[in-house]
Amino acid sequence: MSGSNLLFVLSGSIACYKACDAISRLVQRGHRVRVVATESALRFVGVATLEGLTGAPVAADLFAPGAALDHLELGRWADLTIVCPATAHTLNRVAAGLGDDLAGTLLLAHDWQKPLLFAPAMNPAMWSHPATIAAVRRLRDWGARFVAVGTGRTACGELGEGRLAEPAEIVVAIEAALARPIRRLRVLVTGGGTIEPLDGVRVLANLSTGATAARLASELVRGGHEVTLLRARSAVGVEAGVRQEMFETFTELDAALTRLLGTEEFDTVIHAAAVSDFALDAVLVDGTEQPRGGAKLSTDSAPTLRLRCNPKLLDTLRARSRNTALRVVAFKLTRGATAAQSQAAVAALFARGDVDWVVHNDLAHRVASTGAFPADIWSRGATAPWTCADRAELAVTLEQLLVGAPPVPPL
Ligand SMILES: Cc1cc2nc3c(=O)[nH]c(=O)nc-3n(C[C@H](O)[C@H](O)[C@H](O)COP(=O)(O)O)c2cc1C
Repeated sequence: MSGSNLLFVLSGSIACYKACDAISRLVQRGHRVRVVATESALRFVGVATLEGLTGAPVAADLFAPGAALDHLELGRWADLTIVCPATAHTLNRVAAGLGDDLAGTLLLAHDWQKPLLFAPAMNPAMWSHPATIAAVRRLRDWGARFVAVGTGRTACGELGEGRLAEPAEIVVAIEAALARPIRRLRVLVTGGGTIEPLDGVRVLANLSTGATAARLASELVRGGHEVTLLRARSAVGVEAGVRQEMFETFTELDAALTRLLGTEEFDTVIHAAAVSDFALDAVLVDGTEQPRGGAKLSTDSAPTLRLRCNPKLLDTLRARSRNTALRVVAFKLTRGATAAQSQAAVAALFARGDVDWVVHNDLAHRVASTGAFPADIWSRGATAPWTCADRAELAVTLEQLLVGAPPVPPL
């Protein structure tokens, strides 16, 4: 790989010595590294070491004479910024948007078109503190990536999660994040749940929020792809840069898919929408079918709802597509399924034919305290899935698979 401009933000952890090793490896691989250090970081490693490794001055003082604009210029210079080691304090203040020193200010001014990585290092209690968990989640939601922490004995002698990743792993994570998409994709993402009107004011609905589809759409746009998000009107919205279309009912989603796939050349459909398996056939009161329309049904007798099955949209996506080589990512949601039941559900989707990847998640695995929703990505014919701890990891891993880049270890 030809060299890139890497901005290393060091915060105050014993693991600064490991960051020095990572910096040394990166310089040897042809990258240009600049270091920003917090006041605490310079208690753990000296300016002379960092300057010797990088061949460049270390920036530490927001108000240093002649360097007052470093907090903006270093970010502009960098192709990638990594906070390594990232202390609990720095994670929390960055997630709070605080600019109380040079490191905080330049991270506050971060250009989110460029990768921002955190390589945390801390004691297991700090890593599992609710404030740190919330900070990591917030930073991920903004688009930051995380180098997975190690498990084992930390410098403070405690066993558990929180060790800084090994220098070689940090190098791999940086170079993976720098890799541009091999090709720009045109992707149609569906998300959110369909509703089936019972009358003018009531609907049959499902619990889908559309959050997964929104995260996928945002990540793909950030990766330079062209994305259309076809989402339920009630679903979570997305940031600028994602073209959006809305649906409410199965019929509207069905029609929008026919129109979009038939008129535009999509490479991939990520079909994350929660489509009702049933449509309302009739509402019966005392055995008599009620007229359908916009009126509100009012009756003292309990109505009987007669449902009919909706066709499976998944089965016809490729047939509707102008691009006959369309790739299809399907979603399978289970609730409380065993591993064997989950695998059988995934296999059944592949057996239907027109599916290249299946993303499986189980509602019972959703982490109530954080909202994190783990997911597995299955490729056709694979014996094991890519496991993703949350939506952010799912989005990054799926994008890597779609562009044909070697999938990176979870960030
Ligand atoms: C010997 C020693 C080791 C420390 N190691 C860590 C660490 O690994 N992770 C961490 O989050 N804090 C660690 N701390 C605490 C931080 O240095 C402290 O919270 C500091 O305020 C962090 O400032 P910064 O994030 O601005 O660099 C350590 C403190 C000492 C004295």
